[in-house]
Amino acid sequence: PHPVYDELRKQGPIHHVLLPNGLTAWLVVDYRLAREVLADDRIKKSAAGLAPITTRLRPGDSYTSVSQDLWEHMLSSDPPDHTRLRRLVTKGFTARTVELLHPRIDALADQLLDDMAGKSEVDLIADYALPIPMTVICELFGVPEADRARFRELSTTMTSSSAENAEDQEAAANSPFYATAAERGAASVELATYLIGLVAERSKDLGEDLLSQLIMANHEGDKLSDRELIAMLFLILVAGHETTVNLIGNGLFAMLRDRVLYEDLTRSPERIPAAIEEFLRYEGPVHLATLRYTAEPVTLAGIEIPAEELVSVSLAAADHDPSQFEHPDTIEIGQTGKSKGGHLAFGHGIHYCVGAPLARLEAKVAFEKILARYPNMKMAGDVQWRPSTFLRGLQTLPTVLD
Ligand code: HEM
Repeated sequence: PHPVYDELRKQGPIHHVLLPNGLTAWLVVDYRLAREVLADDRIKKSAAGLAPITTRLRPGDSYTSVSQDLWEHMLSSDPPDHTRLRRLVTKGFTARTVELLHPRIDALADQLLDDMAGKSEVDLIADYALPIPMTVICELFGVPEADRARFRELSTTMTSSSAENAEDQEAAANSPFYATAAERGAASVELATYLIGLVAERSKDLGEDLLSQLIMANHEGDKLSDRELIAMLFLILVAGHETTVNLIGNGLFAMLRDRVLYEDLTRSPERIPAAIEEFLRYEGPVHLATLRYTAEPVTLAGIEIPAEELVSVSLAAADHDPSQFEHPDTIEIGQTGKSKGGHLAFGHGIHYCVGAPLARLEAKVAFEKILARYPNMKMAGDVQWRPSTFLRGLQTLPTVLD
């Protein structure tokens, strides 16, 4: 439930607000308008177009050149660049290609469950939800095992929040989910350097893996440049695991909270795919879509918005819109499927999540395996949400297995 969004939605589908990151933007909270905005080609998101607007609204924003390169990927580009970049990578992520990873993901989940067996208490985030997507990405990129812990740290730092008030600062002292802008900058430089090395190594010895495919990606003579390739890897890394960990974590949390749901899915695992869609809707890992801006004056729901204003779409608000979903604030398997258009947890339009088939597969395996092995898990303490404006996920999920 999101009482603030519900209140705003009653007053109108779009509002001019101050975002927690200090920027002012037009915030969309209604399902139909969210879909419209995400598919509107006058509302853009290229890094080059956005940077002057965010700098105007929040003077002093600056990036080091290496980290800026990292952010100039397809999720920060508009057609025709976006069309070209996306065409070069979609092949690596189709449902068919992803299905080839199924046996590997099965084995990985089995291994993690074996490692947890016998422990009196586990943290289902650190011990299960997180290593699945992280290991899959590392294997897709060919990151050696010895480097994976550091790789993971860097990616968490890059998506972490700044501690903005005293309470945050206290929490920040011993949490990996907070970082300063300087720490984020340093992490991005280290990550970029690491990725450049990884590509150089793999270029000497190309194989069948995703990284080799991206290095060779070619469409009618078109290829990714070195800079584009590094930015693409960075995007896949961050988009691919900081989100999927939350789909698995939020889904497990939902089951642990609701005995009836837990028992239902344990008895009828064939309902897991529909449950995943409902988890995505109810507590989607991506709370706000990435920022967009008006490239020209646009009228939305009768409001005239000038050119060069920021537009933020709340996927969480859209997915709790009672005009789209019958009982938005309860988990009811099947209600997402019944609604025309479904949920917006993977976005909509040209930037619709490329990794959706992979995320769905990882979550399906994760839920099937753990429910089959542990029909009596119980939560063993309070949970804490990650401090983030954009992502919705738990820091820890302490659990007793049986
Ligand atoms: C884009 C959500 C998993 C790669 C997006 C967008 C959303 C999203 C909402 C669009 C953002 C916007 O328009 O502002 C999710 C969720 C996931 C997930 C909820 C897990 C449950 C993955 C995975 C990968 C991935 C596993 C890859 C391994 C991408 C990429 C884009 C994207 C590359 C950019 C697409 C484009 O610009 O055309 N994702 N994602 N995502 N996602 Fe995902």
